[in-house]
Amino acid sequence: MVAVNRTQVADRPNGRIHFFDLKPDEGSFLDDTIAGLSKPQKTLSPKYFYDQAGSILFDRICETEEYYVTRTELGLLASISGDIADLAGPESTVIEYGSGASVKVRILLDALERPAGYVAIDISRDHLTAAAQSIADDYLDLKVVALCADFANRIDLPSELDLGGEFRLGFFPGSTIGNFSPEGAQRFLCDARNLLAPDGALLLGFDLKKDQDILNTAYNDSEGITALFNKNILVRMKRELDAVLDVDAFGHHAFYNEAQGRIEMHLKAERDQTIILGEHKFELKAGESIHTENSYKYDMDQITTWAERLGFTCDATWTDPNEYFGIVFLSTGGEQPIGG
Ligand code: AVJ
Repeated sequence: MVAVNRTQVADRPNGRIHFFDLKPDEGSFLDDTIAGLSKPQKTLSPKYFYDQAGSILFDRICETEEYYVTRTELGLLASISGDIADLAGPESTVIEYGSGASVKVRILLDALERPAGYVAIDISRDHLTAAAQSIADDYLDLKVVALCADFANRIDLPSELDLGGEFRLGFFPGSTIGNFSPEGAQRFLCDARNLLAPDGALLLGFDLKKDQDILNTAYNDSEGITALFNKNILVRMKRELDAVLDVDAFGHHAFYNEAQGRIEMHLKAERDQTIILGEHKFELKAGESIHTENSYKYDMDQITTWAERLGFTCDATWTDPNEYFGIVFLSTGGEQPIGG
């Protein structure tokens, strides 16, 4: 699906942020929820975790002892930021997919030589504008653009947005690519290459396959923050969709599915439940679950194989000393973007 280009430039007090809204959420939460709960295996999309409360809970997950992902990536990024700056060259524009609180990108912006621009793309509108504003406040020479959009769909940069002819450095950290199905991940890589070409690269961070106990523990933290994060989608359904349901009747269930190479998160009904959404009624038997998230874990080879098949050149690969997390620098190459 192609996002509709309805854009608007916000008049910020200092006029420094350019805000574009591709309206990713209009009607879709309700439609997607009804569609997902109508399936034999009930599902909800993890992109709906990230309302304001969910975004704060995710930030708290990143601070738990067990969730190694964020701190491992931050450490790795810091240690390779000089290499990245050399590969990207001066005056590049960073385009971040899923910018959240825009914390990680600071490591890049600090290392890059005279970065020209920063385009923050996120589905969570409030989080996005606040984070972009804070970047604009701290990097005074940077052109900062906040683009509210769902990057699961192809993104066309607004035509009013003039990025100039510099190098486009796509940045997709956090192992967010793990939320896509393998097909979806390849589709994303293809779309990203088209957006970043001809003179650009994608800096991609992803969680590596590893010991299953470490994985299982990371998604079952002892403080129960991940459980709250998972259940927040039910809280959000009540608040935004007027859903009738009992949040406390659902348990957090997360485990590594080895055959699929992914962590699965579910909300499991602890007793028979009915969820009412307007005129729709969804019945769950005790023990039945709603599948809320997949978090795929990859080998370095899998990622570089896909990337090269899609026309990227893999210029560098890095991992932390424990080999928990991988980052790759994928050049678009000078050729015409490929169709897909
Ligand atoms: C933001 C998708 C990378 O899959 O590890 C964290 C989300 N879910 N704990 C992940 C998440 C439960 C996270 N990503």
